[in-house]
Amino acid sequence: MSDPMRPPVSPHQHRTTPLRPGPARPRASLRTAVVWEVLRDALDRRVKATGRESLDVLDTGGGSGNFAVPLAALGHRVTVVDPSPNALFALERRAAEAGVADRVRGVQGDAHGLFDVVERGGYDAVLCHGVLEYVDDPAEGLRNAVAALRAEGVLSLLAAGLGGAVLARALAGHFKEARQALGDPDGRWGEGDPMPRRFTAEQLTALVEGAGLTVGAVHGVRVFADLVPGVLVDTEPGTLDALLELEVAAAELPAFHSVATQLHVLGETPAAAEA
Ligand SMILES: C[S@@+](CC[C@H](N)C(=O)[O-])C[C@H]1O[C@@H](n2cnc3c(N)ncnc32)[C@H](O)[C@@H]1O
Repeated sequence: MSDPMRPPVSPHQHRTTPLRPGPARPRASLRTAVVWEVLRDALDRRVKATGRESLDVLDTGGGSGNFAVPLAALGHRVTVVDPSPNALFALERRAAEAGVADRVRGVQGDAHGLFDVVERGGYDAVLCHGVLEYVDDPAEGLRNAVAALRAEGVLSLLAAGLGGAVLARALAGHFKEARQALGDPDGRWGEGDPMPRRFTAEQLTALVEGAGLTVGAVHGVRVFADLVPGVLVDTEPGTLDALLELEVAAAELPAFHSVATQLHVLGETPAAAEA
């Protein structure tokens, strides 16, 4: 099995590096590969620009450390702010198991009261992954995340996409729910929808720009992965890698942003964008 604490190998590397066969490459990598690719590039650029190998990263709503622990394993110092004591407990355990406890700090707090618990302007990178869907006021939550950045810093924003949910409900035969989500101000398909809010790429980029950042890149995440029956991917050797390559190639194309399950926006402070 591959080590779940390690970031997936860059999909770009997959084009030149032979892939290990089937079971060694978990389907889970499909869900995060595009985000890791963009995030690692952005952090590498910050490392070069600052001359510091180890960056200060804030993971708002970082939960149990899906990103925080692998980032710490890359050598960065990561602070996770999350309201859930259970998630923070799991984070502590994962960080200890991965041998990075000294580089991961979990703090109980939320996006709205961020500066009650962390320093304003103290971070080279801020992650806001899967959080704007849940906060009371996404614009305020994002402004706080951005205010935690140093003058030269990057924001990694990941949020649920509206179009991906509409497509998924329709392909499952739930046409009324798909129609409901399409017209709902929060992009929800009904009372039973577990997601409080979804976004279009335009809404997310407007939020990022409204918080004073330059949009560096937008990527569609999980364009195909959630729609493809598992049996098609798990039985044929090499199919998972082919799907991963397809995801990475489609992620950059605006035409696919409108049907992605999630959208990733990379934001840069104006000083970082000019550097
Ligand atoms: C879908 S999980 C995402 C976890 C992690 N960022 C990841 O990508 O794996 C959403 C997280 O947001 C946290 N959360 C919910 N409301 C929040 C708020 N107002 N401020 C900050 N985090 C919040 C939850 O506790 C949970 O850990």
